[in-house]
Amino acid sequence: MSVISSSTREIPETGMIPQHIAIIMDGNGRWAKNRFMPRMAGHKRGVETVRTAIKACIERGVEYLTLFAFSSENWRRPTDEVAFLMQLFINVLEQEVTKLHENGICFKVIGDLSKFDSKIVEFIRNGEALTAANTRFTLTIAANYGGRWDIMQAVRKMLEQHPQLANCFDESDLMPHFALNYAPEPDLFIRTGGEKRISNFLLWQLAYTELYFTDTLWPDFDARALDLAIQSYQQRERRFGRTSEQIQARSSAHGGREVAVKKTA
Ligand code: IPE
Ligand code: IPE
Ligand code: MG
Repeated sequence: MSVISSSTREIPETGMIPQHIAIIMDGNGRWAKNRFMPRMAGHKRGVETVRTAIKACIERGVEYLTLFAFSSENWRRPTDEVAFLMQLFINVLEQEVTKLHENGICFKVIGDLSKFDSKIVEFIRNGEALTAANTRFTLTIAANYGGRWDIMQAVRKMLEQHPQLANCFDESDLMPHFALNYAPEPDLFIRTGGEKRISNFLLWQLAYTELYFTDTLWPDFDARALDLAIQSYQQRERRFGRTSEQIQARSSAHGGREVAVKKTA
C-alpha cells in the first residue's frame, strides 16, 4: 500500500480544495450551556452538524473527512455523559450507515475498539463491510482514538508481522500500520470551540497539515464556516521545508498554477 506523506510530497498544493479535512468537533457542551440546555442536547445537535459537514465537503470536492468523535481521554467524563454518547453512536450507526452507502460514501472507524460494547463493534464492522467498495468519499470517525495509541499500535503490528525489523526500521515500514493507512495525510485540520490544541488527535499525520482554529462551536459550524476554513487554507503557502522562492519558481513553471504532483512512497 502506498501512502502519501509529508516526506513524499513533491510539490505543495495550495489554492486548491483540500483533499483531506480532519476536524476536532468541539464545543457541544458549551453550545447547550449557552441555551440553558443539558450537555447532551449539544451532542445531539452536533450529529446534525456532522450531516451538514459531510454534504458540504462532498459538494466542494473534498475526498476524505476525518472526524474526532470520542477521544481515548473522554472516558474520564461523567458516566452518564459517556453512556449517552455511546447510545448516540449506536443510534447514528443504525440510522445513517445505509444512507451513507446509498450516497456512495465509504465509512471507516479508527480507534481502539476493544473498549466498546460488542454491539457497537458489530455495527461498525458491518457498516465498514457494506461501504468498503465506495470510492466517492471516505468518512472516518475517530472513536476511542488517541494519536499516541495509534503510533504504539502501529509499532506493535509492524513488529508482530515483521519481527526482523526490531533493530532497524524506517517511516515507510511503519506507515502501512497506522489506523488511517488508506488516506493521504490531512491537508487541513479544523478545531471548533476555541481551544488551540490537538488533544491527542492525529499526532503523526498532522506533521505538515495546515491548522485552522475557530471560536465557532461545533453545532454552529455550517457550510459557510467550512468555506471560511477552506479560504484560509487556500491562502497558505505549503512549503514542506522549502523556501518561498522555490515554491514560486515551481508555480510559474506550471503556468502560474499550483500543480499537485503526488509521488507515492
Ligand atoms: C465535543 O464537545 C464532543 C465530544 C468531546 C464528545 P464537548 O463535549 O467537548 O463540548 P465542550 O468543549 O464541553 O463545550
Ligand atoms: C477533543 O475534545 C475530543 C473530541 C472532540 C472528540 P475535548 O473537549 O475532549 O478536548 P479537551 O479535553 O478540551 O482537550
Ligand atoms: Mg470540549
